[in-house]
Amino acid sequence: MTASPTDAATPLLSVEAVSRHFTMRAAWPWQPSTRMTAVDAVSFDVHRGDALGIVGESGCGKSTLARMVVGLLKPSEGSMTLDGTPLPGAERGHPRAIQRRIQMIFQDPLGSLNPRRTVGDLIAAPLVGLLGWPREKRRRRVEELMSLVGLRPEFIHRLPHEFSGGQCQRIGIARALAAEADILILDEPVSALDVSIQAQILELLADLRQKLGLTYLFISHDLAVIRYLCNRVMVMNKGQVVEQGITAEVLGSPRHDYTQTLIGAVMGETLAATKRSSAPDGATL
Ligand SMILES: Nc1ncnc2c1ncn2[C@@H]1O[C@H](COP(=O)(O)OP(=O)(O)O)[C@@H](O)[C@H]1O
Ligand SMILES: [Mg+2]
Repeated sequence: MTASPTDAATPLLSVEAVSRHFTMRAAWPWQPSTRMTAVDAVSFDVHRGDALGIVGESGCGKSTLARMVVGLLKPSEGSMTLDGTPLPGAERGHPRAIQRRIQMIFQDPLGSLNPRRTVGDLIAAPLVGLLGWPREKRRRRVEELMSLVGLRPEFIHRLPHEFSGGQCQRIGIARALAAEADILILDEPVSALDVSIQAQILELLADLRQKLGLTYLFISHDLAVIRYLCNRVMVMNKGQVVEQGITAEVLGSPRHDYTQTLIGAVMGETLAATKRSSAPDGATL
């Protein structure tokens, strides 16, 4: 992994009062357009090796925040730094040297892979586009990455549709790591997978974080998943940060009503699921 030139106290990523507004065009030309704020003055720091869970209900601005960090959406206000150096806002990706370091993994594993490219080409894409490596060097690196994420290197010439959802997510992870990224932005990376497969992917992510010293921004609406993978958590509601801190503390004794409600809602769902699964066949609760 790339060694940080800065001292340990400098956050790897710092987000300071970042907001993003969207202009909503009215249904009729004579009506005025309105402005909505998807992310509202969000601030947080992430240190090397942290896994920060970002949790909140659908529409609270998690993906918008992720897209700003990865350079797919420009902040309307606020600033971000990487290793203490200002991160220029971008709509079409950060400059290559930064893109190399901050990579994103999406919710839909198959949909995020070009169906006509082989696994080898997909994983090698950052090695071509960001590092300009020659073919033979790329091939060795791709095989190494495939083993790292638990894919058999002899599948290098296969197409994405020949793989399961979990395997496609492994391809996405390998691609993100190809150019030695040190920050992964994971936007609901296991939500589309079966529960048993979810566990395998989460285990892989935990393992990779430890082995490679990676830093995660991990978006999820599932508190159990956040509890398993993340040492820190940030709770969002309506574009704003409600509270943030060490996962065990925030989820163990939430200070804010909203966090309590969120935990209560999850407990309610779990309870209902337990009742459903323990109910006699055909019974509805
Ligand atoms: N490109 C866009 N144009 C207009 N509104 C958007 C756009 N992207 C997101 N939004 C709005 O911003 C809010 C936050 O969305 P999002 O970040 O996707 O939430 P989450 O990921 O937490 O579900 C939503 O109300 C959504 O409709
Ligand atoms: Mg989202």
